[in-house]
Amino acid sequence: MRFDFFYDFLISLGYEHPVHPILVHITIGLVVASFVFALIAIAPRYSKFAVTARHCATMAAVTVPLTFLAGIMDWQHFYGGAWTGIFQAKLTLGSLLIALLGLGVFLARRLTYRSPGIYAVYLAAFMTVVGLGYYGGELIHSGSAAGGAESEEGSGDGEQAAAGADGEVAYAQIDQIMQSRCVSCHSSGNPIWELDTSSYAGLMDGSKNGPVVEPGNPADSELVKRIKGITQPQMPMGGSPLSEQQVQRIERWIEQGAPGPEDAPSGSGAEQG
Ligand code: HEC
Repeated sequence: MRFDFFYDFLISLGYEHPVHPILVHITIGLVVASFVFALIAIAPRYSKFAVTARHCATMAAVTVPLTFLAGIMDWQHFYGGAWTGIFQAKLTLGSLLIALLGLGVFLARRLTYRSPGIYAVYLAAFMTVVGLGYYGGELIHSGSAAGGAESEEGSGDGEQAAAGADGEVAYAQIDQIMQSRCVSCHSSGNPIWELDTSSYAGLMDGSKNGPVVEPGNPADSELVKRIKGITQPQMPMGGSPLSEQQVQRIERWIEQGAPGPEDAPSGSGAEQG
């Protein structure tokens, strides 16, 4: 179940992005606001802000199920429901947040505005949101963190530098593409389908189905089939396809035997072995 009908509908409106990031800020804002207003309300002369805190928490309890649902749908649609550590953490914390905000609404009818029980719930919800934000960041940036110092941020510059080489393709050029387009889902920290594209070793190790790069044979390499859309879903999943030039560069690299970072291309001045 990938909610394709829903995303097809959004695409028909001209919207191609995940929906969770839009809703998530509403819930986060409300949870943070409830906690901050509750803190302000500790001062007796500002005690009426405790009412504001409660209103924010109640609103958050209303928006959080929608945010959670959008997260589940995006996860199924853009990440194929991959069951990696990051998604386990996000699902656990998301469920916890729903429970906490529900508890807040329940306790609000029984406890006074500034009772410790209410404060404990606001604090716990705040901490949960911080945790969710942390794993959200991991999801987007785990590749660059895991990739180590040598990985450059995928920028237009690398693209330019690599474009000049018409002959031999170095692994560094492939790494640039992987770092900018693939590691958000296939890194050592978040290896969807057990594929880690953040290092040469990881790439050559392949996925849970075995190798995805067949040196010397681009047409038989699952990686090439995926970026060309011969095998569906096309990669990068949920994103715009790689440029013609990037696809050709990857094909040429595999054709040349998929050399690693040690095997510098001849003519670049580096010594071989
Ligand atoms: C948004 C997440 C995401 C991104 C970004 C992404 N992938 Fe994937 N990838 C997946 C998912 C999910 C699957 C499993 C798809 C399926 O159900 O077949 C997958 C599967 C694959 C497979 C198939 C492995 C096999 O054994 O059949 C390859 C190869 C692959 N991806 C390569 C790439 C490459 C190369 C990039 C970057 C150009 C990339 N992916 C970017 C999520 C992603």
